[in-house]
Amino acid sequence: MPDKTFKRHTITSALPYANGPIHIGHLAGVYIPADIYVRYLRSKNEDVVFVCGSDEHGVPITIRAKKEGKTPQEVADEYNRLIKSSFKDFGISFDIYSRTSNKTHYETASDFFVKLNEKSALKVIESEQYFDEEQQEFLADRYITGICPRCGHKDAYGDQCENCGSTLSPSELIDPQSMLSGSKPILKKTKHWYLPLDEYEPWLRQWILNEHKEWKSNVYGQCKSWIDQGLKPRAVTRDLNWGVPVPAEGAEGKVLYVWFDAPIGYISATKEWAEQAGKDWEPYWKNEETRLLHFIGKDNIVFHCIIFPVMLKEHGEFILPENVPANEFLNLEGNKISTSRNWAVWLHEYQEDFKGKEDVLRYVLCANAPETKDNDFTWKDFQAKNNNELVAILGNFVNRVMVLMHKYYDGNVPAKGELYDIDLELVQNLKSAPESIETSLNTFKFREALSKFMEIARFGNKYLADTEPWKQVKTDLDRVATIMHLAVQVVANIAVLGEPFLPFTSAKIFKSLNMEKMSWDNAGSPEILEAGHKVEKPELLFAKIEDEEIERQIAKLQSTLAENGAQGDEEIKIPSEKEPVSYDEFVKMDIRIGKILTAEPVKKSNKLLKMQVDTGLDKRTIVSGIAKYYKPEDVIGKQVSVLVNLAPRKIMGIESQGMILLAENHDGSLVFVTPEDQVTNGSGVS
Ligand code: 2FM
Ligand code: ZN
Repeated sequence: MPDKTFKRHTITSALPYANGPIHIGHLAGVYIPADIYVRYLRSKNEDVVFVCGSDEHGVPITIRAKKEGKTPQEVADEYNRLIKSSFKDFGISFDIYSRTSNKTHYETASDFFVKLNEKSALKVIESEQYFDEEQQEFLADRYITGICPRCGHKDAYGDQCENCGSTLSPSELIDPQSMLSGSKPILKKTKHWYLPLDEYEPWLRQWILNEHKEWKSNVYGQCKSWIDQGLKPRAVTRDLNWGVPVPAEGAEGKVLYVWFDAPIGYISATKEWAEQAGKDWEPYWKNEETRLLHFIGKDNIVFHCIIFPVMLKEHGEFILPENVPANEFLNLEGNKISTSRNWAVWLHEYQEDFKGKEDVLRYVLCANAPETKDNDFTWKDFQAKNNNELVAILGNFVNRVMVLMHKYYDGNVPAKGELYDIDLELVQNLKSAPESIETSLNTFKFREALSKFMEIARFGNKYLADTEPWKQVKTDLDRVATIMHLAVQVVANIAVLGEPFLPFTSAKIFKSLNMEKMSWDNAGSPEILEAGHKVEKPELLFAKIEDEEIERQIAKLQSTLAENGAQGDEEIKIPSEKEPVSYDEFVKMDIRIGKILTAEPVKKSNKLLKMQVDTGLDKRTIVSGIAKYYKPEDVIGKQVSVLVNLAPRKIMGIESQGMILLAENHDGSLVFVTPEDQVTNGSGVS
C-alpha cells in the first residue's frame, strides 16, 4: 500500500470514444494495468470501485454518423455494445461500464458547469469563428478543410494537418471550406465559456511539481513542460448540436466541450454504480481518505493532470487524483497503431481467432506494457511468449505437479516430513514473493510485477528438477511426500498471486485445486493446502501456438498494408528477408500475364530455355533458367507472370527482354507463378 493509508480507492480508466472498436494498444496502455491493480486491491480486501464507460460525445462521432447516414446516438450504441463486450471477454473487471449519454451523466455534467459558472470560475469570451451560412452552423475545427500553411497539403483539417502532423487553428488554413456543404465559411462572432487555466499556474506548480514528485517520470515531465510553456484559458463549450447542452443563459445551440463532460463521466458512473450496489457514492469522490487514481494513455495526460484537477479544485467538493499512472503507446510490428488505416489488432477479431486465449494476450501485453517508453507488439514475440513462457514455464510446472499428485497420491495432498535446505529455500522464496510483487504493483511497475510472479513458476520447476520426485519414488516415499506437499503449495500460491494478471488461468487452477478463491494475504505460505485435501485432475492451461496461426495474422496485416496502398513514406517493419520497399518503388515494376508461344533449349546450357512470349504488348524473347524443371513442349501455351519493364540483358549471347516470375520451392526447384484462371494476355499484376 502507498505510504499514506487510505480507506478506499476510486479507480478510473479512460472512457473510450464510442466511434470505433478497441484494440491491443488500449488494452496494454490503460485497461490491463488498471485491471491488474484493481484485482490486486480487491484481493487485499480493500474497498475499491473501478469505473469506466463510453465517451459518446465529440465531433468524430458526429462525423462518423454523417458518413454512415446514422444518428450519433446510433453510432455510440453500436460501439458501446461492442467495446463493453470486448472488455468483458478479456476479464476487465469494471464495477460499472456506463455511458456519457445517460441521464445521470447529463445531470451531473450540467450541475458541475452550473456550480463553476455560479462561482464565476468561468470566463465568457467572444471571438470570431467559422460559420457555414448554407447549413447555418458554426463549424467545429474538424469540419473545416483547406490548404496546410506549412506543407501545402490540400486536405488539412482545421485542427491538424495529417500530412505533416502540424497542429493548426482553422484561421491558419488557406482557402478554407466547410465539410458540411463544401461552401466557403465566413467568420462570425460567437461567445464561449473558458476555464482560465493561466490563473491556476502557481497552484499547479505547487500541487504537481512540488507535491507529486513521485508521479511517473513521463507524466511528471509532460506536466512540467505544459506548465513551463504557460497555460492559456481553455474553452469548455462548443457550437455543436451533439453533447450536453450548456446550462446558461444565452447558450442556445451550444454544448459542453467533450473534454469537459467526459471526465465528469467518472463521477456519473460512480453514482450509477452506487445506486445499483446500494452504496453511497459521495465518500468515493469527496472523502480525503479516498485515493483517486486515473489510468490513461499519454495523449490524455493534460486533461487528467491539469484540466480536470483544476475543475475539481474549483468546484470545491471533490478530492484530487493521488496519481495518474499514464502509459506511453504500444506500436504494432514497428508502426504506430492507426484506426483510420486499420493498422491494429482489434480485440473482437482476436477473440474470434484465439478464443480461450484471453490470458495469453493479457500476459503478452503486460509483459510488453509501454510503461516508460513506446513499445512494440509483434506476432512472433506473442508466439514466443506463449510457447516459451506460458506453456514451457507456468503451464508445465502446474501440470507436472498436478499429474504427479494424481499418479502418486490419487490427488490427496500428502503430509510433509523433515525439511532439507533445498525445501527451506523454496519456502523462503514463497514467503518473499507476495511482498516483492506488491512493491512493484504499488509503484505501477506491472511488467516487473509480472516477471516476479513468473519467478515462482521458475523456481517451482527448478525445485522439481533438483529434487526429482520421479526418481525418489523408487527409494524414499517420505521424501516424495514432502516434495509433493510443498510443490502443490507453490501451485496454490500461483493461483492466488496470479489472479490479477491471469484471472482465467487462476480460476482454472483454483478449480483444479478444489479450493475457493483466496485473498492475497494468504499467499507466501507453504501451508495453504492441508494434508489430506483432495485436488482435481489438471485442466490444460496453455497450448502451443503454431507457426501457421502466426503467419495467418501476419498475412492479415500484410493485406491491410496492400489495401492502404502502403503509404510510401512509412517504413513497414514486418517479417521479410529483404529490405523494405516503398509502395512507389513496388509500382514501378510492370508485371503482366503473358503466354508462352514457343520454347527451345539454349545450346550449350542445361539450365536455360529460350521462349517467345506474348505479353499483350508485344511478342518478345525471354530466356529463363527453367530447363531442369520444364521440358519445352510442357511450357508452350502456358500463361505466366512476366516482369516486362526489366532492362534487357544478354544471356548466353541471346537478348532476354524481361523476366518470367518463378516460385522457388524449399528444395530449390522452380515453378511458374500462373494466374488461377485464364486471363487476357497483358493483364497487369499488382
Ligand atoms: O482519448 C480518449 O479516448 C478519450 N475518450 C478519453 C476520455 S477519458 C475521460 F476523461 F473520460
Ligand atoms: Zn501540412
